[in-house]
Amino acid sequence: MFIVFEGVDGAGKTTQLTQLVEWLGQLGTTVVTCKDPGSTKLGEELRSILLSSVDTPISMRAEMMLFTTARTQLVDEIVRPALAAGKTVVLDRYIYSTIVYQGHAGNLPIDDIRQVNHIATEGLQPDLTFVIDLPVEVSMQRLGESLDRMESRGADYFEKVRAGFIAETKLAPTGMELIDGNRSPAEIQAELQAITKRYLKN
Ligand code: TYD
Repeated sequence: MFIVFEGVDGAGKTTQLTQLVEWLGQLGTTVVTCKDPGSTKLGEELRSILLSSVDTPISMRAEMMLFTTARTQLVDEIVRPALAAGKTVVLDRYIYSTIVYQGHAGNLPIDDIRQVNHIATEGLQPDLTFVIDLPVEVSMQRLGESLDRMESRGADYFEKVRAGFIAETKLAPTGMELIDGNRSPAEIQAELQAITKRYLKN
């Protein structure tokens, strides 16, 4: 099974992901957890360019290609081999982050991003995607003062990110679940586990 977590920065997705992985482990599932961009040597190098570099100009199209390149390496090196070995993969962000951050909020054509990512991942789609939703003023407050290159884009950009995730969830046929992140962590986790159980049965 392949599970993805998406959402605006500061929505609490990493906390929820960690708890879900623990729970899956208790059920006896072998889980591989990874982070997009990251988790491979190339992915970590690209992540550092994308999030930390302040002096290197990066156009929106180049940014989209770099995120997507990190993803290709992640799929080839970790995700596909793990799924082929019968493991469950839980991934922090995937293609919808590019569709939303570089498409909806970055104004690149969304169909191009879908096409490039189809090639980049050879069409690998998750079974289940959780989109943790939170009002931008709450998520920005959680992020605090020390912001990386992406996080420093400001509230207008993040309003587009949030709206993009909501729009994509409504468009998606099945397998994409919009989760209200403005509740206690325990309540959110209970919902995630209930939904995951349903998918595990199928
Ligand atoms: P994330 O790992 O969630 O950040 P953090 O470790 O700070 O919680 O995501 C990295 C940032 O990159 C985040 O701002 C979202 C952004 N991003 C894109 O803009 N496009 C993408 O395709 C991906 C995967 C992430």
